[in-house]
Amino acid sequence: MGRVYDDERRAGAYERGNEMPESSVRAWEELIGTYLRSSNPWIVEIGAGTGMFSAAMAHWLDVTEVLAADASEPMLAEARRHHPHPAVRYVSGAADAVPAAAGTFDLAFLSRVIHHRSSPSGHGRPRRAACSSCTGNGALLRRRRALLSGA
Ligand SMILES: C[S@@+](CC[C@H](N)C(=O)[O-])C[C@H]1O[C@@H](n2cnc3c(N)ncnc32)[C@H](O)[C@@H]1O
Repeated sequence: MGRVYDDERRAGAYERGNEMPESSVRAWEELIGTYLRSSNPWIVEIGAGTGMFSAAMAHWLDVTEVLAADASEPMLAEARRHHPHPAVRYVSGAADAVPAAAGTFDLAFLSRVIHHRSSPSGHGRPRRAACSSCTGNGALLRRRRALLSGA
């Protein structure tokens, strides 16, 4: 990927500029929750950035675990600092190589990441990797701006 998110100052600015009122985060989580087909789900967020959605999913959705993967260490450092949660595991990982066995997750969530032109893998491979990381009954959710699309 283009290494724009590898700049610590930008990662810090992203975290501060990305804040959302709690009511907005909660509205997203309620919507995301409607796609879950099992209780105590295992969730992966790919391109988790500074962790706002991963921590919110852990908080609101009664998860077993959220695996929050991102290719940028500075973004992960911000996530660990600002959005720690006992049910969230922040890990280094590229979108087209989810760091977990296939068929692990009940939900794969990608917010504002799949469109990244800078990703060397383009758009198709992250989507396929996210799909194969899910159980047969799992859901893939993509968020871009105010849109959420499920598959
Ligand atoms: C616009 S931020 C979105 C962060 C978070 N998902 C959100 O909505 O707040 C994009 C994130 O995707 C990550 N990213 C971009 N390309 C990636 C790739 N190929 N694999 C993993 N992460 C990637 C960046 O490091 C960055 O943290």
